[in-house]
Amino acid sequence: MRPYAGRFSLGLLATFGASVLDGVTIVLLVPLLKQLFGGEAAKVLTSGSAWLGRAVDNLLAPLIGGLPPSQAAGRIVLVLLAGLMVKNALSYTSNQISVAVQEGVVRDLRTRLFRHLLGIDLGLFQRTKSGQLISGIIVDADSAKAVVSAALASLFQNLVLILVSVVILMGMSARLTILTVATAPLLVLGMRVLLARLRRHSKVWADQRGELTATVAERISAIKLIRSYGTETLESQRFEEQATRYRKGIIRIQRFSSLTSPVSEVFGGCLIILIIWAATTPWITGGTLGPAETITFLVAALKMMSPIKSISQFPASMATAMASADRVFDLLDIPLTEADHPGEGTATFNRDLVFDRVSFRYPNGAPVLQDVSFSVSKGKVVALVGPSGAGKTTLLELLPRFHDVVAGEIRLDGIPLGKLTRRSIRSLLGIVSQDTVILNDTVSANIAYGRPRATRAEVEAAAAAANARDFIAELPLGYDTVLGERGTRLSGGQRQRIAIARALLRDPPILILDEATSALDTESERLVQQAIDRLMKDRTVLVIAHRLATVRHADEIITLDAGCVVERGTHAALLDRDGLYRRLHDLQFREVAASA
Ligand SMILES: Nc1ncnc2c1ncn2[C@@H]1O[C@H](COP(=O)(O)OP(=O)(O)OP(=O)(O)O)[C@@H](O)[C@H]1O
Ligand SMILES: [Mg+2]
Repeated sequence: MRPYAGRFSLGLLATFGASVLDGVTIVLLVPLLKQLFGGEAAKVLTSGSAWLGRAVDNLLAPLIGGLPPSQAAGRIVLVLLAGLMVKNALSYTSNQISVAVQEGVVRDLRTRLFRHLLGIDLGLFQRTKSGQLISGIIVDADSAKAVVSAALASLFQNLVLILVSVVILMGMSARLTILTVATAPLLVLGMRVLLARLRRHSKVWADQRGELTATVAERISAIKLIRSYGTETLESQRFEEQATRYRKGIIRIQRFSSLTSPVSEVFGGCLIILIIWAATTPWITGGTLGPAETITFLVAALKMMSPIKSISQFPASMATAMASADRVFDLLDIPLTEADHPGEGTATFNRDLVFDRVSFRYPNGAPVLQDVSFSVSKGKVVALVGPSGAGKTTLLELLPRFHDVVAGEIRLDGIPLGKLTRRSIRSLLGIVSQDTVILNDTVSANIAYGRPRATRAEVEAAAAAANARDFIAELPLGYDTVLGERGTRLSGGQRQRIAIARALLRDPPILILDEATSALDTESERLVQQAIDRLMKDRTVLVIAHRLATVRHADEIITLDAGCVVERGTHAALLDRDGLYRRLHDLQFREVAASA
């Protein structure tokens, strides 16, 4: 809220003005009614000791003094109208300001949430349904704004309204006012009982809403799976069950919050009867209230009902808003793991990269890597091979500090990664991963993702080197064709070549290459391999190799099995050893021979 303090105070001021004017228009009813029905021209509101009447008299005297009742009434109506107009102008202004402040707070909250999500631990994205995160940023940030509007703006407005009303009522009859106000706690207490359980229900309900979003998001991305396994009916049934649970949650909440309206309605009716009875009972009012005062008193007292009701409903509207705010702050409270720590330096790479007895396990998972040691000198190519699940991808994900090692050290030029900022490490790395991410954007934006300021010529050169030029030329709009979810889909080999072009354009000194496991036909295989060769040229490369061609040229091959290094050496040396590498090689060689 702090950035909006100025505007917010302005809004409160406008609200205050509007509420006071609201009271003034009510007070003016008395002289108006008297002029119309009472005929007491000059003596407007001289009702016993009521100071309000005298104040109004004094104020109105210069305006209507000595005029016949019909003209006086006309003047009062003009004043009333003017007051009404100014009041509404003020409340319009305060509404506008309140919306601006509210939406500003939502925008800030949302942006902060998004920025925060970009910095939290990767593992959290695997544990949390993305729908819950989406719901947090989109829906909960929005519902949380009610805290601003309900809590601050309308609470203040209602308090001022009540205060103004009480002043007016007191000005007409102190005793009757005390009687009226004394009933208010009854209304508030009645509401309290209803609203006690609302907040807890609201949190459950917000969680369910997140689940609903999660299901939709997940199933949309799995639409081909659903179609191919014919599970449409099953999925709709499941979704219906979930939607039904959500419905029940809302009904449960509404059971309490909807009761507030009938309760206060009945209360209002009783209050009217009470006031009329008291006003016409001399020993309560002292006989000072005429019909005009009684009507005005009634109007003012009933006018007070709505703010009292709002205030007592305040916990209800706050409950749902606070439940959303809770969820938002739960997300914001997740510690940032990406943040740089003091003392972390800038990474350089001039000499070598060393994995020194590195062990790793995923949180609450079995050990994935044990005591892995090897080093890569600048300009060399090291290939990792091994059966599926051996931990190859995990090993290479330690280098950009996607995860931190559990034991051992990875050193760049002799400095442990833990002492270097993530950003500076990553700026040295080009990563081409097992599954290529294509963003919903143009071909050129996708290639230039790591270097947004690259010129078109540079993008085209990278695409050419990645053997992507020909298929891009055949796309409907060439480099301006939109790819991804709502754009043109690419084949597996084409996606890989986009990823290679992306890495080429960034031109990193160290390349991390996790070759895709999906089989390509011989022609794309050749195109992709050529692109990879160009990408590896003059670079230090750590490659998880599935292709013979890539492995053969490696300076060292490291065979990983179940998280441990089992063999290392050159292609020729490992073939001679007749171990795991030999077996993997023979398997693949047989496949290659078979497909040739
Ligand atoms: N995010 C994760 N959380 C927990 N365990 C994981 C996670 N990612 C991978 N694993 C586990 O770690 C082990 C190694 O996985 P990894 O992806 O590194 O294998 P890989 O050698 O790259 O296999 P492939 O050749 O099939 O790509 C596997 O047993 C896997 O189940
Ligand atoms: Mg892998």
